Amino acid sequence: MGDTMKRQFRLVDLPLFVFLIVFLPGSSLFAKAQDSQPPATYTPPGKQLYRNHCASCHGLDGKGSGPVSHSLRKPPPDLTSLSKRHGGKFPGDYVTEVLRFGLNYSSHGSSEMPVWGPIFQDEEHYNEGGVRQRIRNLCEYLESLQQE
Ligand code: HEC
Repeated sequence: MGDTMKRQFRLVDLPLFVFLIVFLPGSSLFAKAQDSQPPATYTPPGKQLYRNHCASCHGLDGKGSGPVSHSLRKPPPDLTSLSKRHGGKFPGDYVTEVLRFGLNYSSHGSSEMPVWGPIFQDEEHYNEGGVRQRIRNLCEYLESLQQE
């Protein structure tokens, strides 16, 4: 009788065993894949960031005629001529500075250009890598808009 009990046990255990082998590693992989999904580490591409955050003032084409531009004290500069105005080379460091710290450090008083560093920090939940990536994506996108 003891013998039959043992055999029954094994037969009952087999599906459970298969289940553990097949599904558990799979499900933990699945959970991992989900962890890396948005919004945890997702950084929108430059074009999307630009449309969401910049086009209202600078215009979709970057030339400064967004719908909000008319209500600003100072018209937004043409972002497609950045390279031209900086000796033919896209001023990546300058744009990075402007996005992170704004233009208020300059002498001409308070600027209507928002300071994006703190806004991106908030949206990225203080993930510094994400903030940098956003600024990099925006720089790359602006670089792609440059005209001769
Ligand atoms: C509320 C309107 C507004 C929004 C939104 C805005 N800007 Fe600006 N931006 C301005 C204005 C106005 C200036 C000029 C400010 C000054 O000179 O004080 C400016 C200046 C700049 C400059 C410096 C340009 C130069 O010629 O030196 C850059 C670069 C820039 N903006 C990029 C961006 C990017 C990228 C975004 C989106 C993340 C953005 N701006 C969103 C209004 C805006």
